Amino acid sequence: MIPQHLTLTQYQGRRVHVGISGSIAAYKAIDVCRALQATGIETSAVLTAAGARFITKWSLEALGVDPVQTSMFSRENSIFAHLEPGQNASLMLILPATANTMAKLAAGIADNMLTCQALAFPGPLLIVPAMNPNLWFSPATEENVVRLSRRENVRVMQPESGEMACGDLGRGKLPPLLDIYFQALKSLSKQDLSGLKILISLGPTREFFDPVRFWSNPSSGMMGAALALTAWIRGAKVRCVCGPTDVWLPGSVERQDVISAREMYESCLDCWPDFDIGCFCAAVSDFRPKTAMTQKFKKASASGLSVEFDSNPDILKALGENKRAGQRLVGFAAESEPDLLVLAKEKLDKKNLDLICANKINEPGTGFTQPTNSMLLLNKKGESRQLPLMSKADIGWQIWDWTLKT
Ligand code: PMT
Repeated sequence: MIPQHLTLTQYQGRRVHVGISGSIAAYKAIDVCRALQATGIETSAVLTAAGARFITKWSLEALGVDPVQTSMFSRENSIFAHLEPGQNASLMLILPATANTMAKLAAGIADNMLTCQALAFPGPLLIVPAMNPNLWFSPATEENVVRLSRRENVRVMQPESGEMACGDLGRGKLPPLLDIYFQALKSLSKQDLSGLKILISLGPTREFFDPVRFWSNPSSGMMGAALALTAWIRGAKVRCVCGPTDVWLPGSVERQDVISAREMYESCLDCWPDFDIGCFCAAVSDFRPKTAMTQKFKKASASGLSVEFDSNPDILKALGENKRAGQRLVGFAAESEPDLLVLAKEKLDKKNLDLICANKINEPGTGFTQPTNSMLLLNKKGESRQLPLMSKADIGWQIWDWTLKT
């Protein structure tokens, strides 16, 4: 359900309380609960009367959501159940949130278990609306969204555009599972990268020698996407310069797609002065064919094929030479030879880096195309740490810890 390279382990033992109101999208709450549980997060839920018409208490309980509450005055609840999430949960997630439930939340009306618990909840409240576009764009709902969004502990996600259950087209659909899930993790996370602008390069580059053939490498972009995700989760404003890759990135991450090393060079150099941290994970082709043919090279003449190469610019080195006081630069080293520390140190010094992350590309589970990695971190103070095999997102998390302390 959640791509393996984006799995994070630091949320184990936390609890999310899910409030489900009456919309056809209610069944999607089940997938979100399961994704949270797979991360080690405990889930509990409260259904409004309308929510309970779309999914049942039994489905949620069968999937390990515990407890599932449906009414304020049920004998099954403890006498103070209307206040309990505040003591037990780190996040209250209202999904789907109908126009009616949002209106009650905005006005502080506590006439059912969900809205009463939300009113009493002192922690972060993440509201995920789903409704017909006519309801979403009604002046009353718009006013309620503005009112709710002004509260420090409340975040209202934007619904998606598309075809509604009734066949209408417009905005009002529940956002995709990944967006909701990671927004929930963000609400549970320290925002220690808040206020920082981070530039990340990722993926391979392609150097064409005719219109259909190119020189490249197997980088999938997973490591860079994991870095972008974890930086965004921890509050950074993130821009990614991506070589050709279709990896998932959070919607709020700014993305620029490029093809060749020279395009990546221009894009990164252009915006580098605006950023606080640069993290360069892209597997940039060091060479490019000297001449790119305009017509497809014919197989018949293949016996005479020879390709000459020119060197591409070293993006990281150029940024290191243009680093101003206060900027931090993180580089990568992809190595196949045994002496990782020595090779990493050479690159750290040569490219004027603050931190280098060195990985082996020829060991099981590490390097290119794998959802996991193991990484040697070495900073300019000479401190180093070997991270064992773990998901690329967990590695990304540690890289940001190290970047902050470097
Ligand atoms: O994308 P994945 O499939 O998840 O794989 C992840 C990864 C193996 C690509 C990643 O973990 C990694 O190691 N990235 C760096 C790959 C690389 O090009 O390493 P290098 O040792 O050749 O280059 C050293 C550093 O210089 C890198 O930060 C690189 O981005 C940078 N560089 C290299 C050449 C060049 N012309 N310009 C550069 O900026």
